[in-house]
Amino acid sequence: MLLDSFGREHNYLRISLTERCNLRCFYCMPEDGVELREKSEFMSNEEVIQMAQTFVQLGVKKIRLTGGEPLIRKSAHDIIRELGKLNVELAITTNGILVEKFIDTFRSAGITSVNVSLDSLKPDRLAAICRKDYSDRIYRNIQLLLNEGFLVKLNMVVMAGVNSDELVDFVELSKDKPLHVRFIEFMPFNGNDWNLSKGTSYQEMMQVISAHYGAENLINMPEKENDTARCYAIDGFEGTFGVIGSVTHPFCSSCNRIRVTADGKMKNCLFSTSETDLLAPLRNGEDISQLIGDSIQSKKAQRAGMNSLDDLLDRSKTDANRSMVSIGG
Ligand code: 5AD
Ligand code: SF4
Repeated sequence: MLLDSFGREHNYLRISLTERCNLRCFYCMPEDGVELREKSEFMSNEEVIQMAQTFVQLGVKKIRLTGGEPLIRKSAHDIIRELGKLNVELAITTNGILVEKFIDTFRSAGITSVNVSLDSLKPDRLAAICRKDYSDRIYRNIQLLLNEGFLVKLNMVVMAGVNSDELVDFVELSKDKPLHVRFIEFMPFNGNDWNLSKGTSYQEMMQVISAHYGAENLINMPEKENDTARCYAIDGFEGTFGVIGSVTHPFCSSCNRIRVTADGKMKNCLFSTSETDLLAPLRNGEDISQLIGDSIQSKKAQRAGMNSLDDLLDRSKTDANRSMVSIGG
């Protein structure tokens, strides 16, 4: 079992399949993109599987595939099917563009729930945020997932003056659809030109939503262990919504997450700048279990040691991290 020095059990692994993406969302992808590197610097299909198997032996119960956009990797079908054979809950976060090609693969790998990033219901605005226009395809594929019986979670990064006027429209989606909307506070990463005033806080989001529906119509959903979102439903609605307050309401005390980047580096926290290279030792035939255990042991209590909001506001600290597209969402 991967226990850290604060007693947190780490049983949830997020593996990035690629740091490339068919969108260029400005909060995630730096304007100039990410530097292209040799293919050999990234995990091969076999190495992804080997990595996953090692973590499963160490007690990982859930694996989420991320990116970049995981589905643009040519071998995504094979990797998903192969990981589906492991004894874990398999999940995926995608921008939705290629989903229609993956319905059978998801099903055969036992994936029942799909997280789709969606920042606007207005096609032009979505295209502007993503710096590319695939809006219709994304909307269509979200509906397809619902029609095919998948549980769908929509991730929206809420940004003041960009899409923050759509909170209620997003909650409305949950009225007669069994989907879960998650509003995410905008977070600082390398190259995304973040500052606090560009985000919308948990409290601001809840104020807008309760003013619209009436606080008495908001139902508190029971908290799930390790959940990053505080979840609610509107009385009578089929779906639910949640707020992920990474900036103003960090949920580090129940963190169970481990990340492996597409180039095989382990990050014990989304914000950690120190990474553990697992790929080189794996290629040398070394046992990486000890390295994984050591990295977990060195995990800090909160946001890689950024304990206060002031730390997070210090851009020299967050700029030292990778951009989100190369960490894995
Ligand atoms: N702040 C918050 N969430 C982000 N994501 C990417 N960049 C950021 C950021 N700066 C999330 C998106 C997407 C997932 C891949 O990561 O919501 O769903
Ligand atoms: Fe691609 Fe998702 Fe990043 Fe947008 S947020 S650039 S879809 S990885």
